[in-house]
Amino acid sequence: MKITEQIKQPIAYEMELFEQKFLLSMASKVALLNRITHYIVNRKGKQMRPMFVFLVAKMVDNGQVSERTYRGAAVIELIHTATLVHDDVVDDSNRRRGFFSVNALWKNKIAVLIGDYLLSKGLLLSIDNNDFDLLKIISVAVREMSEGELLQIEKARQLDITEDIYYDIIRQKTATLIAACCSLGAASVKPNTIDVESMRKFGELIGMAFQIKDDLFDYGAEAIGKPTGIDIKEQKMTLPLIHVLNNCTKKEKSWLINSVKKHNKDKKRVKEVIAFVKANNGLDYAINKMKAFQVEALQILDTYPESEYKSALRLMVNYVIDRKK
Ligand code: IPE
Ligand code: IPE
Ligand code: MG
Ligand code: MG
Repeated sequence: MKITEQIKQPIAYEMELFEQKFLLSMASKVALLNRITHYIVNRKGKQMRPMFVFLVAKMVDNGQVSERTYRGAAVIELIHTATLVHDDVVDDSNRRRGFFSVNALWKNKIAVLIGDYLLSKGLLLSIDNNDFDLLKIISVAVREMSEGELLQIEKARQLDITEDIYYDIIRQKTATLIAACCSLGAASVKPNTIDVESMRKFGELIGMAFQIKDDLFDYGAEAIGKPTGIDIKEQKMTLPLIHVLNNCTKKEKSWLINSVKKHNKDKKRVKEVIAFVKANNGLDYAINKMKAFQVEALQILDTYPESEYKSALRLMVNYVIDRKK
């Protein structure tokens, strides 16, 4: 059995019901909106965030989920989708999930509005059902994500990013939402318990590993359903490059900075930068850091009693690191 099927096995019923609810949660009276949201749901992603929500809920409450869990999972996936639609505008990226991105097909104007619509639908789903405790968890994540993406732009302009700032950026733009999945999963069934915080931390650590993995994909040439090699083009400095910048000669450093600053649209030059990063062990360094986050996440999981949900979460943590897209 494929690893993803194995992970989904203990939540197969919930994931099926989730998909129906998720589709309904996007419905609108505006035909253009429906056309675009259908386009989006027909090209679904890995759905890792709802999987985290359900697995955590079931692990902390002996296999139970509630309507709150379903709504929480739908809100998170709506918000995740909204941020991807916006992120592709911000990153000027034309592919997502193996197809054209919304901005590539309908242009930026429409992509911005679609992202806003999905965000508001998500927030309203919580409000209309009085899930205010869950809404708080989600809203914190939304704020952090915007701050993270802006911090990233600020650092891309100044080109003065350190390893610590990189961790701040990825914690905000990516890890907080995965942290929200896990704490919301726990809060949906056991509000006001220590599980809510320990699962938040668990999710945050996985989220860090998750984004390092995503940044490593950008250095590869494999088909992952979205462009590779665009981070440097967008002057995004990620861990492999940051590490190499901090461990090379002055001359090499100014060549690297100059490449990112002034030759970032020059394909040949970007390839040279990538080759330099690889030759100087930038990828290995990032892989080791990613694994350190993985180990820390597994340690938190170890404090829970064995169950099929815990086993699936363990597989999930490993999948974050080993995944092919
Ligand atoms: C992509 O997330 C955005 C990042 C935070 C790197 P996913 O890789 O989970 O995207 P989908 O939903 O599976 O397409
Ligand atoms: C994560 O960063 C984006 C979000 C937090 C939405 P990236 O810009 O690296 O994500 P991808 O690679 O486009 O999916
Ligand atoms: Mg992007
Ligand atoms: Mg990326």
